[in-house]
Amino acid sequence: MEDRIVSGESLEHDDIEEQSLRPQTLTQYIGQKKVKENLRIFIEAAKMRQETLDHVLLYGPPGLGKTTLSMIISNEMGVNLRTTSGPAIERPGDLAAILTALEPGDVLFIDEIHRLNRAVEEVLYPAMEDFCLDIVIGKGPSARSVRLDLPPFTLVGATTRAGMLSAPLRDRFGVVSRLEYYTHEELTNIVERTAEVMDADIDHEAGVEIARRSRGTPRIANRLLRRVRDFAQVKGDGEITLSLTQHALELLQVDQLGLDDIDHKLILNIIEKFRGGPVGLDTIAATIGEEAHTIEDVYEPYLLQIGFLQRTPRGRIVTVHAYEHFHMEVPGS
Ligand code: ADE
Repeated sequence: MEDRIVSGESLEHDDIEEQSLRPQTLTQYIGQKKVKENLRIFIEAAKMRQETLDHVLLYGPPGLGKTTLSMIISNEMGVNLRTTSGPAIERPGDLAAILTALEPGDVLFIDEIHRLNRAVEEVLYPAMEDFCLDIVIGKGPSARSVRLDLPPFTLVGATTRAGMLSAPLRDRFGVVSRLEYYTHEELTNIVERTAEVMDADIDHEAGVEIARRSRGTPRIANRLLRRVRDFAQVKGDGEITLSLTQHALELLQVDQLGLDDIDHKLILNIIEKFRGGPVGLDTIAATIGEEAHTIEDVYEPYLLQIGFLQRTPRGRIVTVHAYEHFHMEVPGS
């Protein structure tokens, strides 16, 4: 995927810095009130019973804090965190190696859990349910199955699409939580908290402006904050003011709603080449040169949320709101 300033993913210097900026406890974590309230109770109950926390599935668009929450869960439970991802576990043996290396109570975080292959998924079922591994040794008629006990652990799975998880896997999570886009107020608090941790000097109005243009996503807010801080350092005296923020965001091609050049390309393509739609996802992907699943996971959810796009059985259509945003005339109006 292209390294997009406001993208969902990319592992760069910023992300390494991001690790140290992440909240460490549920109290420090801003937003996602319901998810937090529930987790707090389940964690406390598990600790009181001296049991492991039930398996947790976190789902929602990228950048909303699924990885951060897994770190907080392990921290609050006082156990180690092991992190991996669906595509990284290629064979059942890879998963077996990870599971047998866990210590009792550990949290195993599997990002993009919807991308586990079937053979690996089948090893995961008895591991989640009974904390054991069924391994087949040998081949042909002499093959036999042995059952290995595993230490009890908590699986925290993260996915951008709960619908892509197989039903047997989804059913094995005791806690299923959906992360929502953040409000402007929550994002402002996050920007101010991050600025404080980074020791950056930011005016409240500048924080509000960054929050407004962050597409409901803390990862984007923190990334924009870092870029604006760069401008403040080089073009100003270091203080992040409103006017400097507006100027920097303009140069970064982040518009009033936080939409960037790729969002623009996506919407304008549907308007200009397909008369506003309906048009299929694969066709959109081919015409703008992005992968269909990237559009679906990263760009589209926010455009749907703000009502610029609609999904219909015949494809995507652009709404009146989008035409208005681009000062374009709605066809037939
Ligand atoms: N940084 C990124 N996400 C955050 C959150 N939800 N709360 C506090 N700081 C954050």
